[in-house]
Amino acid sequence: MTNAQRLVQLGATKASGQVCGSVLLPTPDGRVDFVPHAQISWSDARIVHVQPIDRVPDPASALWLPAFVDLHAHWPQTAVRGQFSGQLLPWLRQSIWPAEAKFADEQVARAGVAAFLHTAQRAGTCSGLVFGPPFAGASQIFAQIAPHGWIEGPAIMEVNGPVALLQSAPMMLTELQTQNRDTVAISPRFAPSLSAEGLAACGLAAAATHWPVQSHLAENIDELRWVAELFAEAEDYTDVYDRAGLLGPRTILAHAIHLSDRELQRLAATGTWVAHCPTSNEALGSGRMPLERLRQFGLRWVLATDVGAGPQLSQFDVMRAFLRLHPPELTTAVDALCRTTAIAGAFLAQFDQGLQGLGTLAAGAPAHLIAVPRPTGNDAEAILRSLFSSLPDNAEQVPLAVVAWGQPLDC
Ligand code: GUN
Ligand code: ZN
Repeated sequence: MTNAQRLVQLGATKASGQVCGSVLLPTPDGRVDFVPHAQISWSDARIVHVQPIDRVPDPASALWLPAFVDLHAHWPQTAVRGQFSGQLLPWLRQSIWPAEAKFADEQVARAGVAAFLHTAQRAGTCSGLVFGPPFAGASQIFAQIAPHGWIEGPAIMEVNGPVALLQSAPMMLTELQTQNRDTVAISPRFAPSLSAEGLAACGLAAAATHWPVQSHLAENIDELRWVAELFAEAEDYTDVYDRAGLLGPRTILAHAIHLSDRELQRLAATGTWVAHCPTSNEALGSGRMPLERLRQFGLRWVLATDVGAGPQLSQFDVMRAFLRLHPPELTTAVDALCRTTAIAGAFLAQFDQGLQGLGTLAAGAPAHLIAVPRPTGNDAEAILRSLFSSLPDNAEQVPLAVVAWGQPLDC
């Protein structure tokens, strides 16, 4: 019997069951409620209720929370996560693009998707939005293997990279449209990888579908200089995407570190989301994301791993770094948890009715939950801080149990 199965009492059907323990309940409006003794039950892979109970039967030491949602990671970078040093552009050219070239082979792609999903789920992440390598075939393999809740798109690269990775954006988009997938993430890798025409083709594809858009924005100073040279007609980096029709509430841009007031205003006005990736920013020496400015301009944002620049596919690792890297008056552990669960889930649910409530344990939400050893503390902030301070170096090993769509996983 696995650890997860020991903690979960399975019901008559496979996707029904219940657990008892302490529970943290994050909400999309930024609260986390704490229930010291509760029973969580689910049926047909969806939460039925979280009910306070008098006493917690054995095992009383587990703390349950919704599984994580990761809105920015690169699945083909799983095997090389945290392995290289150097800043963004040399890291991409010397390490990442050669690593991604291997996924042109379908057997390699199949194994890479399986390794990513296993590592993410083991670390407590059961859904998310991810970049693939720049191949439509590998992207289709991801869509065939990944469970409901994962949305993926191949990184589109037309120019300024190794020839084996380049394909025109219209050709890639046409190929993706013929795959008959419900949802594909339109994924221009970053401005330097595309022509203005290619970016505009991505914008048109976004307008013609209900699909999400993901890219990178203002991660690194050398990248900023390069974008200014390549797109001299644009006002700034954000304007490159704006001109292409790529901003809006279905778009999420990773990093957003080096931005002017004008750019922050424009991102806020268009409802564009930011994926803040503190572990990646630290690993690549990209700089501290000015959280106070995101707040000042009222941007919508989440926390994400950005594996493989982020060294671990663990949102515990990301939350711990978030609290360490920003001034203490800017952060709370409660905010961190909401942005790795309920708020990230609300972004993803835009694309799939079946994901309503994702990242919460509300009735009807997908039954995605994890257990960790019960830390000390009697409110959500104290419990989370105690949990983060006791995490092992490898935070991917933290969950005692992971339940996805109501099924305990073999951890
Ligand atoms: N910018 C363009 N591609 C990438 C990538 O793969 N990782 C990160 N961190 N930034 C990028
Ligand atoms: Zn990234």
